[in-house]
Amino acid sequence: MMFERLQKKWRVGPLRLLFVLITFAIGGSLTGLLGRMIMPFTGIDSPWLYVPVYILVVTIIWPAMVLLVSIPLGQFNFFRGYLRMLGKRVGVIRKKKNAIRRIAIFASGAGSNAARIIEYFSQSEEVSVAMICCNKEGAGVINIAKDNDILLLMIEKERFFRGDAYLPELQKNNIDLIVLAGFLWKIPEKLIHAFPRHIINIHPALLPKFGGKGFYGVHVHKAVLEQGEAESGITIHYVDEEYDNGDIILQVRCPVQPGDTPETLAERIHQLEHANYPVVIGNLLMSDNLRIPKR
Ligand code: GRF
Repeated sequence: MMFERLQKKWRVGPLRLLFVLITFAIGGSLTGLLGRMIMPFTGIDSPWLYVPVYILVVTIIWPAMVLLVSIPLGQFNFFRGYLRMLGKRVGVIRKKKNAIRRIAIFASGAGSNAARIIEYFSQSEEVSVAMICCNKEGAGVINIAKDNDILLLMIEKERFFRGDAYLPELQKNNIDLIVLAGFLWKIPEKLIHAFPRHIINIHPALLPKFGGKGFYGVHVHKAVLEQGEAESGITIHYVDEEYDNGDIILQVRCPVQPGDTPETLAERIHQLEHANYPVVIGNLLMSDNLRIPKR
C-alpha cells in the first residue's frame, strides 16, 4: 500500500521505485559515515554543540551523496528533480516567477471532477484553474464555474469544429494544459496541434477496452457489467485525433463487485477519478517532461 502510494506520488514503476529506495538507503548510510569522519576535524567536544553541527553537516552532505549514488544506479534524473523540488520547498532554490501553470477544464456534465480539481488547486501557488469550457446549456459544471468565480466559456459546434476552435481565447488566457473532464466532443486537430501532448482526458474504464465513440457515462459501466468483467477502473491519457486513443499516463483498477449496478460501479469509479486526476495534473504540470508551449 505504502509502496503503491510512493509509485503514484513519484510516477515510477515498481522496479524504478526499488532503485530509488536503494539509492536513498546507500546515500543515507554514506552520509552518516562521512559525517562521522568529518566531525573530528571540527574539534567540537561539547555534546550540546556536537549534535546541531552534526545535523548541519549531514544536511549539507546528503544531497551530494544521494546524487552521487544515483549515477551508477541510473537514477540521476529522478534525484535531480527530487532535490530541486525539495530545495524549492525549503526555500533554498527560488521558485521561478510566473511559474504558475494555467489549466482550462473542458466539461459538459455534472462537473464533479472539475469541482474536485478546482478544490485541489485552490490553495496552490503553482497551478490555477483559469477557465472552464462547456458545450452544454444547463450542465452542472456551469454553476461550479460561477460559484468558484472561474471564467466560463460556452462553446458552440460550428466555431469549435469549423472555425478557430476557440484557440484565441485559450491563448489569450495563457492556457498551459487542457483537461477534459466529461467532455464528449472530439477535440479538433487545430487544438491538438496547438497543444501537443498538452491535452489530457479521463475515461471511466480500463482502455483500450470500453473506449471509443458511444462509450461514455453509464454506457461504459453497463458494458463492463454485461461483459462480466472482474475489474474496471480509470484511464488518464493524452488526447489525440481519435476518441480515447492517446498514450496512457495512468490506470487505476478497482474490482467489480457481485450485485453491482451501473450506478454503484459509477460511484466507485468516480471516487477513483477524484482521488487521482488532480494528482496526475499536478505532477504533469510540475514535471520537466511537460514543456510548456510557447505563448
Ligand atoms: C467521468 O466519469 C469521466 O471519466 C468521464 O466523464 C465523467 C464526468 O463526470 N470522461 P463528472 O461530470 O466530472 O462528474
